[in-house]
Amino acid sequence: MQKSKPVSYSRTTITELMIPSYANFGGKIHGGILLSLMDKVAYACASKHAGAYVVTVSVDGVNFLQPIEVGELLSLHASVNYVGRSSMVIGIRVVTENVKTGEQKHTNTSYFTMVAKDDNGKPTEVPMLILEDKNDVRRCLEAIKRKQLKEAYKDDFDNEKSLLHLNGEIHLLNNERVIQNITQ
Ligand SMILES: CC(C)(COP(=O)(O)OP(=O)(O)OC[C@H]1O[C@@H](n2cnc3c(N)ncnc32)[C@H](O)[C@@H]1OP(=O)(O)O)[C@@H](O)C(=O)NCCC(=O)NCCS
Repeated sequence: MQKSKPVSYSRTTITELMIPSYANFGGKIHGGILLSLMDKVAYACASKHAGAYVVTVSVDGVNFLQPIEVGELLSLHASVNYVGRSSMVIGIRVVTENVKTGEQKHTNTSYFTMVAKDDNGKPTEVPMLILEDKNDVRRCLEAIKRKQLKEAYKDDFDNEKSLLHLNGEIHLLNNERVIQNITQ
């Protein structure tokens, strides 16, 4: 296995035409189609860096802020932003293009954590990441911050959950659009 690889080695783009069979009943592209394409590009990018098969472990920052139309060209740009021992954070920028006007829309940026596995299915070490420009450095630092915040959030939330008392917190439902119709 190579000891280190540059970000550029595994940078990957998938471009796909949004065809009618990808659409939902409203005529826009299904969120699930987009998720599947993001998983595919994350896999291609991560397995190239790792030189091994990988699995998807976690997905962050998936927000569908703009609808994607049938007939648009969708490009998913992926690069390794951060590596741990066996895990890699893959940043994916999704851009659509109207083929007639050339107008481009940035629809979302998401982060997939992928883990490399050996032939026995155990997590295996991946090459170190060589950062080649300021963008690589910025993305790596952002990934470290995101990891720290996620860990802190998980601890906070686990703590809140263990302290949750139904009667004490029931007032939180007062301003929500729910009806309590509890029969037992
Ligand atoms: C994720 C998985 C590999 C962890 O295996 P494990 O035996 O617990 O191994 P480890 O604890 O050593 O974790 C391996 C790496 O995953 C990372 N990891 C584990 N859970 C994670 C999570 N929820 N979010 C981000 N990273 C995670 C660890 O930090 C570790 O990273 P590092 O090696 O860079 O330090 C294992 O649970 C798995 O195979 N899950 C199923 C994945 C899958 O099948 N995905 C397809 C979706 S259907």
